[in-house]
Amino acid sequence: MDKIIINGGKRLCGNVKISGSKNAALPILIATLLTDGKCVIDNVPELEDINTVVALLKHLGKKIKKEKNKITITGNGKLRTDAPYELVSKMRASVLVAGPLLARFKKAEIPLPGGCAIGIRPINIHLDGLAKLGAKHFVAGGNVKLAANKLKGTQIVLDFPSVGATENLLMTATVISGKTIIKNAAVEPEITDLANFLIKMGANIKGIGTKTLEIKGVKKLTGCSEGYKIIADRIETGTFIVASSITSGDIKISNAIFEHNESLIEKIKLAGMKISMANKFLRVKGSKKIKPVDAATQVYPGFATDLQPLWMALMSIASGESIITETIFENRLQAGVEFIKMGADIKIKGNTAIVKGIKNLTGAKVVASDLRAAAALILAGLSAKGRTEITGLEYLDRGYENIVGKLKKLGADIKRVIDN
Ligand code: EPZ
Repeated sequence: MDKIIINGGKRLCGNVKISGSKNAALPILIATLLTDGKCVIDNVPELEDINTVVALLKHLGKKIKKEKNKITITGNGKLRTDAPYELVSKMRASVLVAGPLLARFKKAEIPLPGGCAIGIRPINIHLDGLAKLGAKHFVAGGNVKLAANKLKGTQIVLDFPSVGATENLLMTATVISGKTIIKNAAVEPEITDLANFLIKMGANIKGIGTKTLEIKGVKKLTGCSEGYKIIADRIETGTFIVASSITSGDIKISNAIFEHNESLIEKIKLAGMKISMANKFLRVKGSKKIKPVDAATQVYPGFATDLQPLWMALMSIASGESIITETIFENRLQAGVEFIKMGADIKIKGNTAIVKGIKNLTGAKVVASDLRAAAALILAGLSAKGRTEITGLEYLDRGYENIVGKLKKLGADIKRVIDN
């Protein structure tokens, strides 16, 4: 089993380039199921989750040419409409193939994705929306089977602005007859990126970036052979903003879209860091004294749930007490348990963590429970005095492109070893 070994206490200084967004690339790659045309996708991050979605598209019948940070997808005619268990169980976002397959072939069979460490993560909002469009579904043997004689646009009001459900329904609505209005839609930047990609393929979408999307179905979507560039990963950007803060570093971040991190940047300034913008670089200078700042996760543009574990790491060494509230996932505070092994003073009650900052964390053996907890433990290890060993790296590889290399380049004493 691999592990990451960090000797903490080094300031991170230098430049880092942000990779393409995992959470934009996944739905955009899946959206190519809506067309037989050639699609060229640029700025695709090199990640395990990307490999999984490529395997899924190949299984369904697409032809894939994978180059560094670029994927070309072709393949016409009939596709399979069943997603295999071993791929869906590796990556829940596979559920996003349901809508496109249903829209084009009037049927789809997807293993229920199941929960993960951060929550049970049901797909009821996806299924209720697809039912409104005319799909029937039932669960048998752990699979959800969907079928429809006819799919027709209608108004759908989401119970909760689910990112995945918005993406699934948006994709479906682009090629079925009639007009679909999605109300209480999620407005995360990844959805805007998906909508912009669909428009390049000939979709008719209004209200992009707002909570009400209006989609007029078209007969057919073309490919996107001229190429489509995925937006930068706002969660990776946030990760390096916190990395500079937690090591009193001085990092210049480029290739990012900083307005996607406004909520975090506000909090980082309140915590005492110096943030400046200069020709497309965001410069983050850490400060010796980190002020405690409360955070409650919200849907975009509020404070991102994916950055909550990283904020908890930073607040663990703040000069006072802060309250961190997780409102999106019912079980996403568990990174705190690992920080306690490093000396942090954290009390978790329900969906709230009370964090009493201490002078410094100390290195320990810790285990990552999910992708963002893995990132947060790395940041904690970078800040801690002494040696930290982190396992559970299979989560890390899903969502960060070469994070060890990027951190090493910034001066971190970090390495990844195979531990037999
Ligand atoms: C996306 O997950 C992201 N994943 C997550 O990032 C991110 O944390 C999440 O959005 C929230 O921003 C991808 O984009 C691949 P949701 P998703 O549907 O779509 C409940 C990461 O680390 N819900 O907005 O699954 C759900 O249980 C990952 O990169 C239902 O109840 O998120 C949760 O409590 C982690 N029924 C809340 O809504 C449904 O049908 C938000 O889920 C769907 C969701």
